[in-house]
Order: sequence, then C-alpha cells, then structure tokens
Amino acid sequence: MHTLHLRADIDGITRAATLLQEGGLVAFPTETVYGLGADATNGAAVASVYAAKGRPAFNPLIVHVASIEDAQRYALWSDAADRLATLWPGPLTLVLPRKPASPLALLTTAGLDSVALRIPAHPVARALLATFGGPLAAPSANPSGRISPTTAAHVADGLTGRIDAIIDGGACSVGLESTILGLTDQNGSTTLLRPGGLPQSVIEAALGAPLTTEDQTSITAPGQLASHYAPNASLRLNATDLRPGETLLGFGPVANATLNLSPGANLTEAAANLFDHLHQLDAAGPAKIAVSPIPDHGLGHAINDRLRRAAAPRDQ
Ligand code: TXA
Ligand code: MG
Repeated sequence: MHTLHLRADIDGITRAATLLQEGGLVAFPTETVYGLGADATNGAAVASVYAAKGRPAFNPLIVHVASIEDAQRYALWSDAADRLATLWPGPLTLVLPRKPASPLALLTTAGLDSVALRIPAHPVARALLATFGGPLAAPSANPSGRISPTTAAHVADGLTGRIDAIIDGGACSVGLESTILGLTDQNGSTTLLRPGGLPQSVIEAALGAPLTTEDQTSITAPGQLASHYAPNASLRLNATDLRPGETLLGFGPVANATLNLSPGANLTEAAANLFDHLHQLDAAGPAKIAVSPIPDHGLGHAINDRLRRAAAPRDQ
C-alpha cells in the first residue's frame, strides 16, 4: 500500500475525509499524539487499524467526536460527565457506559459495554472530524508496543506502507496521550485509568471530587500493559549518575545530557519532548539510556508513568 503524505490544508483534509469514508486509515495530528483514524462505525475499517498496528484485538479504541452532542449519541451521560466535559476539547478521554443501540462497530470497543470518548483540541483534528462528519476511532499512530508518535515523521517511520495517508500537522503541543477517566462504577466514583496530558488537579477541580485510582493489577484498560511504549534501548530511571555505556536523557540543569527534556525543569516542556527525545535516542542506537529524576507532580506523574512502562521488562 502506498502511504500518501497530505498537507494540513483544506485539500489535504478533504482528501483524508474521503479516504476515511471509503474505509481507509489516516494518521492525523491531535494536541496529545498522532492518532491513526478509522470510521468508528465501520467494523472492517476498525479491523484494519488493529492489523496495521499489530495490536492485540482485545484492546478497545478511543472514539474521537466533534461535540458533546455527538458524544451523547454513543454513551449514557451523567452529572459527572457533564462536569468533566467542560474540559473538552482537550487531552481528556472519558470511559462511559455504551448506549445499547449505538452505531459504533462492536470491534471499536472490543465488545465492552463501555466506550472511550474524546473531543480533541487540535485544529486539524477538529477540521477532519467536521469534514468527515462522524466518529473516528483512533489509537496512537504507532506499531503496538512502540513509542507514541508526536510528529508526522514518527508516524511514517512506524507505519509507512501499512496505512493510506498521514496528515502532517507539525509537532504535537502536549506530547503525552490523553488522561483517561472511568465513569462506569456503580457507586458513581470517577477513576483515573491512565495519567496523561491533563493533570489530576485540573480534573478534580472540574469534577468537584477526588479521583479514585486503579489497582495496578487491574486490566480495565488493557493498553496499560507494563511494557507499552518500549524503545529498543533499555532504560534506567531516576539516574543521578552516568554509568559506562549509557547515554543521558536529562531533566533540569544536569551535565552530560545527550538530550534534555527541559533544561529549565519545566514539566510541560518535558512532556512535549518526551516521546520525540526517546525516538531520537533510540534511532541513534545506544543500548542503554539513563534518565534524570522527574518530579512526580502535575504532568510529571504521567511522564513517570510512561517512563516506567518504557523501562519495564518486555512482555510482547
Ligand atoms: O491522546 C490519546 O489518547 C491518543 C490520541 C490519538 O487521542 N490516543 C491513544 O489511544 O492514546 P491508544 O489506543 O493508544 O490508547 C487508548 C487507551 C488504551 O489503553 C485502551 O485500552 C483504553 O484507552 N480504552 C479504550 N476504550 C476503553 C474502554 N471502553 N474501557 C477502558 N479502557 C479503554
Ligand atoms: Mg497507544
């Protein structure tokens, strides 16, 4: 399959929307990471997403929509959903009970009775949703188990020849996947399923209640395999020294860093650089990457979550 490279202008977006309507796969920028989009109502198109990514078929996909009204077509709504939806558009995904008579393909939600929904903020993603005119199922646009893409070049590296097109919208501003919240608990609590681009404090302020956190061993979000986001190199975290054979991914004013996530110790800048720097160091081929300590608050919580997964022993 030839993979088209499209510009993020009206012509490119129109071409992409047509490909999607025909059941094709198009990678597009969001503010978090690039998504690999397919028509969420077309089971064959969704199946080809799993095939292109080499993703285990039990893993459900996030459905991207243009508006809250659209989200309400696919999910059972609640007061908590209302409060959290004030944070849309943005790097937030809500897992809600799936409406029984939903037009979404069963494969999109991997047969679960819940559905993950998000309104992205990126202008190109919004223009694509508007032009396509329906829900887009979109996992991150990387081969399964690899680092998420934050540029069109990352997508091309992983998926060229396996998807129909890539819309180049430049680098993603957030650089970490969306925060995923579960709103399916009988007791009405809201659970943090995946830390991500929207900090917990911002979410709790909108919700007016604390989030509950998941038991680490749970498989509610099966994409949370420990070894997700794996680079080829091995990673050593919280490194305060540099050992023989290691290259340093720095944070803050450290010496000897090959690349630095944020020399000024800014967590927002570090999040935006995280996957790009991991891609770059991995491409340069060092066997071992040492990573400076990252403070575990705000976006640092999600950065450390991704780093732990990248450092975990490989299980696939
Ligand atoms: O920022 C993002 O979230 C990006 C952009 C493209 O939107 N997407 C993304 O998708 O990171 P993906 O497929 O790489 O991760 C989606 C996660 C997976 O861990 C999946 O298991 C979880 O969402 N998920 C999807 N539907 C779910 C559901 N019904 N219940 C629980 N977890 C769900
Ligand atoms: Mg992913």
